[in-house]
Amino acid sequence: MEDSIEMILQDYGRVLPTTRTHPLVSACTGALITGLYGVWSVFAMPGFRKIPVRLKVPYLPSSKDQTRNTMKLLEGRTGRLADLGSGDGRLVFAASSAGFHCTGFEINSILLVYTRCKAKWRGLPASQATFVKKDFWKTDFSKYNNVTAFLAPGVIETLGEKLVKELPDDASVIACRFPFSDWPHQLSAGSGLDQTWAYDMSTVRSSLRNVSSTAV
Ligand SMILES: C[S@@+](CC[C@H](N)C(=O)[O-])C[C@H]1O[C@@H](n2cnc3c(N)ncnc32)[C@H](O)[C@@H]1O
Repeated sequence: MEDSIEMILQDYGRVLPTTRTHPLVSACTGALITGLYGVWSVFAMPGFRKIPVRLKVPYLPSSKDQTRNTMKLLEGRTGRLADLGSGDGRLVFAASSAGFHCTGFEINSILLVYTRCKAKWRGLPASQATFVKKDFWKTDFSKYNNVTAFLAPGVIETLGEKLVKELPDDASVIACRFPFSDWPHQLSAGSGLDQTWAYDMSTVRSSLRNVSSTAV
């Protein structure tokens, strides 16, 4: 009986040889992951670390539909556009193709290198698309008449307060996926996760004024 079990195990070993990762492969994989993490923390994290935890927003790219919906709400508009947290630049590239003078604000250095290379490769002049390494919480947006923001629900209220203080009356703000709860929107496009909302700053200001005067 024991002999036959041994024979079965021997056969099994021949048919299905056990796959053990070579120690050198494991060591190289470990070193690669550690190296990549090192590069990531050196180049991408310094700016991020300085942002208060409640205002941190991770990278998540817009879907194609979301970008399309954003562009739909920008139809008929012109001028300067700021994308708050430009990521891989997809919104900036779409808006610059539509004739806007765009600035993408981004703190992740790896994404910045990528977007700058892509802009160069597409032959876009800086007047059409610029990517700057700047914390948008510390940037004044008073010279922009178009703002796009795909961020996170936890920061929307703080962002709203900042934009109400800084933007000119003729500015339009496009919120992607996460709307401003106390702002009346002008238009909206799409549905579900791809929905976007357009807000007209002068309408937002007068609505907020009305709310505070009726509250007194
Ligand atoms: C949800 S992603 C949106 C990316 C892009 N706008 C899109 O629609 O695909 C948010 C981006 O904001 C960047 N970000 C977060 N906080 C920032 C800050 N304070 N200043 C500049 N960029 C920031 C992140 O690194 C990330 O790339």
